[in-house]
Amino acid sequence: MQALQKQATNELAGVSDSEALEAWRIKYLGTKGRVKTAIQRLGEVPKKDKPAVGKATNELKTALRSAFDARLGALGDSRTKDRPAAPEVDITLPGNKPTIGHLHVITQTINDICEIFARMGFTVAYGPEVEDEYHNFDALNIPSHHPARDPLDNFYIDEKVMLRSQTSTVQIRVMENTTPPVRIIAPGRVYRPDTVDATHSFMFHQIEGLYVDQGVTMADLRITLDQFCKAYFGHNVATRFRPSFFPFTEPSAEVDILFHRGDGTEYWVELGGCGMVHPNVLETVEYDSEKYTGFAFGLGIERMAMRKHNITDIRYLFESDVRFLHQF
Ligand code: DAH
Repeated sequence: MQALQKQATNELAGVSDSEALEAWRIKYLGTKGRVKTAIQRLGEVPKKDKPAVGKATNELKTALRSAFDARLGALGDSRTKDRPAAPEVDITLPGNKPTIGHLHVITQTINDICEIFARMGFTVAYGPEVEDEYHNFDALNIPSHHPARDPLDNFYIDEKVMLRSQTSTVQIRVMENTTPPVRIIAPGRVYRPDTVDATHSFMFHQIEGLYVDQGVTMADLRITLDQFCKAYFGHNVATRFRPSFFPFTEPSAEVDILFHRGDGTEYWVELGGCGMVHPNVLETVEYDSEKYTGFAFGLGIERMAMRKHNITDIRYLFESDVRFLHQF
C-alpha cells in the first residue's frame, strides 16, 4: 500500500495539465484503477491480516482522493492565472437608481379638477376628438354663417368632419343618450389653428361642465364655479362673472379669478365661459325646455395649471423636456 501511495503521489506531482490529471485519476481512482484492484484483492489476504490490510486500503483511497482534489484545485488556479484581470467591481456600492416617471402635469391637473367636481356630484364623460360639424356647431346653436365655423379657424378633415374646437360637443353627446338630470364634466383636448406663442397652442385642453335638471338656476352656476375655484386655488381667491355671449348659453358670462401678486397687487385671470344652457340646445336633444333648465361652463386647463404652478409659457407643457416635467 505504501509503495503504491508513494508511486501515485510522485506521479501526481508531475501532472501539469488537466488531461494528465484525468489520466492519473483513471489509473488510480477509476473503476478499474489500482485502488479498486487492491480492494478486490482483499479476499486473498489471510483472515487475521484482513482488518489491518482493509484499513490500510481505505486510508490509501482517502489519501489519493484528497491529493487528487488538491491538485485539481491548484490546476484550476493556474488556468485562470494568465487571464486578463477582471475589472474590480465593488458589489457593496449602491446601484444606479432608475428614474421613475410620473403623470404629466396636465394629466395631474385634470385629475385634481375631476376630483373636486366629483365631490359635487359630477361624473366624468368623454367624447371623440375627431368630431362632426353637427356636434361641434349645429347642435350647439352655432348657425352655419357664424364666424367660429370659418375653415381658417378650425382643423377640418373633410366638409363635415373636423378636430373638435371645444369640449362643448360632449354636452350634446351626453344629452343625446341620457334623460335628465344630467351632471357631468368632460375633460379633453381641443384643436384650433392658432399661431403658437407663450399663451397659445394649436392643441390645448378644456374641461366642460353641464348640469341639467328641473329648477337649475344661475345661482347654482355661480356657487359651483366659485366653490370649484376656492377648492382648486385656495380659499382666499375671489371670482367674478362678466356678461358675455355664447350661442349655446343665454345668458352667458365669462368667469375670472382674482390672484394676488407677491407685491400686494391683484390681477384678474379669465378661466373660461359659462351660462345657462340655451333652450334651442335643450330642444335639439329633445329635452323639454319648459320643464328643464341647466348651466354649462368650459374652462381652460392649461391656464389653470400654469396659474397654479407659475408656468409662464404654454410651450413648456408640450415640449416633453423631462427637466421641466420632473418639477411637477
Ligand atoms: N366652448 C367655449 C369655448 O371654447 C367655452 C364655453 C362657454 C363653454 C360657455 C360652455 C359655456 O359650456 O357655457 O370658448
